[in-house]
Amino acid sequence: MSKIKTAFFCQNCGYESAKWNGKCPSCGQWNTFVEERVQKDIPVKQEWKTIDNPLARTQKFVNLSDVEAVAEKRLLTPDNELNRVLGGGIVAGSLVLVGGEPGIGKSTLFLQNALQLKDIRTLYISGEESEQQIKMRADRINVSNDQFYLLTETSTQTIFAEIRKLQPQLVVVDSIQTLQSPFIESAPGSVSQIRETTAELQRFAKESNTPVFLIGHITKDGSIAGPKVLEHMVDTVLQFEGDQHYAYRILRTIKNRFGSTAELGIYEMTGTGLRQVTNPSEILISQREDLLSGVAISATMEGMRPLLVEVQALVTQSVYGTPQRTATGFDLRRLQLLLAVLEKRGGFHFGVKDVFLNIAGGLRVEDPAIDLAVLCALLSSYEDISLPNKVCFSGEVGLSGEIRAVNRIEQRIAEAEKLGFEKIFISRYNKKGIDFTKFNIEVIAVGRVEEVYRQLF
Ligand code: TYD
Ligand code: MG
Repeated sequence: MSKIKTAFFCQNCGYESAKWNGKCPSCGQWNTFVEERVQKDIPVKQEWKTIDNPLARTQKFVNLSDVEAVAEKRLLTPDNELNRVLGGGIVAGSLVLVGGEPGIGKSTLFLQNALQLKDIRTLYISGEESEQQIKMRADRINVSNDQFYLLTETSTQTIFAEIRKLQPQLVVVDSIQTLQSPFIESAPGSVSQIRETTAELQRFAKESNTPVFLIGHITKDGSIAGPKVLEHMVDTVLQFEGDQHYAYRILRTIKNRFGSTAELGIYEMTGTGLRQVTNPSEILISQREDLLSGVAISATMEGMRPLLVEVQALVTQSVYGTPQRTATGFDLRRLQLLLAVLEKRGGFHFGVKDVFLNIAGGLRVEDPAIDLAVLCALLSSYEDISLPNKVCFSGEVGLSGEIRAVNRIEQRIAEAEKLGFEKIFISRYNKKGIDFTKFNIEVIAVGRVEEVYRQLF
């Protein structure tokens, strides 16, 4: 009997080594090496070798000008958010990886999209749920489609055999961590399995020109489980994220060979599947009648999309020696920095106050342009004076209290105008070369924190 061949794989980056290492020489992570079997000692059946090695064909060089330009064929789904995130529809033969935390709605999103594509023969391969469970989910979504086929299977060779019979036009794999290639001995979900099964699906996608969606799990630190190599192998990486306790979900592009990575789609989880949110700003701003202190609206950008979000702050007298600072949806260190700016430049005594900050809707905002709204929400709660209605803010705050310019200011102003705002505070440095008279909204350019304070309180 031949000896079983094993190798050690870094579970973080996929680095292969003959011996165990404490620290991965490739990615520098500690304690990530796991021994995996790499070869089966049974001979591979001939009919399993479904796909020839693409490298084996004799490839000759060509002059780029001789290559015929073929218009990229894209399949448009009824889901505009997904189309946009993919760069304008599904590209034929593309391999798309979708990551997200458990329970966020990955299976729902792709089941729903596959069901809505009426004239497309889709194969939904699930290694996680039974046919009945998927049926129950499909009933909830309540879209019927007689071109939708299910396969609950994890072995790639059985999957390819079924694919050859059905000839689907779209394949969804839920999830890549459950697949198993008979060529590799290690357990499903291990680095070598994920790498091999993805490679097999990649070959299938490229050769048959069929788009394949892979659903992938996410590890505790937020990266897609399995090696980084997985991200290199696929054409597009999407991330589905959101707060479990809120209904809003964001689909983000992390990598895209066929489009921009600054795109983003917004959904709402409802009782009957995911709903596209076409005008997110309207929901993110709470519809309130009376004015409350500590609330400010910011004109932020999420990727390429302008988004108006509500910042809520609560500043109270501290009861303990060390004042508390809590931020949800906003970087805590950034909050501390803004408080320090207010303390030093404005003479406000936040040192004796507890400060709580929240971005409404469970969003996480990284755009520095939200600074000015955070600062105004803090001041409003501190003074217990509400900000005037129909006013929003867009500006970054620097350490010396200056209001700095932000990108895409015209888009932000246009969005605020569209939502019926009457005034927007922006940085003085954003004024250059832009004609603000075309907007039906008053643009107030400010240079320092003190100026904003004087205008508002
Ligand atoms: P699911 O797609 O199973 O998540 P994932 O595949 O990312 O693990 O969806 C999980 C949640 O979505 C689950 O808690 C139930 C909820 N859900 C709804 O609220 N409405 C629906 O119509 C469906 C199908 C699911
Ligand atoms: Mg799932």
